Amino acid sequence: MSTATESRPSNVEYVEVTTPRVHNLHHVEVLTPKPDESLDFFTRVLGLHETHREGQSVYLRGAGEWARYSTKLTEAGAPGLGHMAWQVAEPDQVQGWARRLKEAGVEHKFEDGGTRFAQGETLSFTGPFGHRTELFYDFERYEDPNPSALLSQPMKFPTPGIGARRLDHLNITAANVDEARDWYSDVLGFKLREAARTPEGDIGVWMSVTSQVHDLAIMRDGMGERGRLHHIAYYLDTPETLLRAADTFVEEGTPIDAGPGKHGLTQAFFIYVFEPGGNRVELFSGGYPIHGPDWKPIIWDGAAIEKAIVWYGGQLPDTFFNIAT
Ligand SMILES: [Fe+2]
Repeated sequence: MSTATESRPSNVEYVEVTTPRVHNLHHVEVLTPKPDESLDFFTRVLGLHETHREGQSVYLRGAGEWARYSTKLTEAGAPGLGHMAWQVAEPDQVQGWARRLKEAGVEHKFEDGGTRFAQGETLSFTGPFGHRTELFYDFERYEDPNPSALLSQPMKFPTPGIGARRLDHLNITAANVDEARDWYSDVLGFKLREAARTPEGDIGVWMSVTSQVHDLAIMRDGMGERGRLHHIAYYLDTPETLLRAADTFVEEGTPIDAGPGKHGLTQAFFIYVFEPGGNRVELFSGGYPIHGPDWKPIIWDGAAIEKAIVWYGGQLPDTFFNIAT
């Protein structure tokens, strides 16, 4: 019997690779001045499931999510983003990120595991564009009391409402998109996938840390304000499900901001609505995967920008470009 032995060329040095990496979007805290109405929307209409309540917050998850929550709905005086939370690639990288943020001059603090519901040791900071952010590795998984026999499903179908499957991405705003793009890329390691570019600078960028075309989008804040949310997006399995969702929104009297339609950017099949608290929520299907390390960012500029924004479907309303929370 032969034994596997390590053969190592003499000119190769094995070194410890400890580069910290943001791995995936984990959850988003959404602030609402109308907690009861927002909760009704996120559960009965969107189809998320309530898993926990604490203080002024309700914790929610989609039927396709393995974690105990992806959405934290918190009562507040005004709508907006409470924070966004990203899982890092390895347990020890929470410490690695602290060093990286220190080098980048970003104030940050540690919270012990258990300080936040279902969440391990956490590094939290407010990014230079005003968005509260958490980085952590450990998170409790959801265990369904009556699990699906389809073992790759976290729970049985059907799910209520339109059945939003999982949190997909979020879109934040910044006064200077070029600076935000460079910071998220240079400091947090996001890869630029697509951009809408004018001679005066980028008006929107679509970036990811996963093989999705975007986990995070950043658009120009028309008011020049900091820390605002343009929308959070949930994934639906097919465009057909999204068209069904449009029927539900009309039935429910949910204000539709834009869509259904398709963006050239990211090949997103979309509909945007306003939840009762005033935050914009997108239902998203489509997109495309990116697997190689050598992606060349898609730049939409000049006459191409029109197709980038609307591939088909009606023009986007002014509210889409003017309202953020
Ligand atoms: Fe989006």
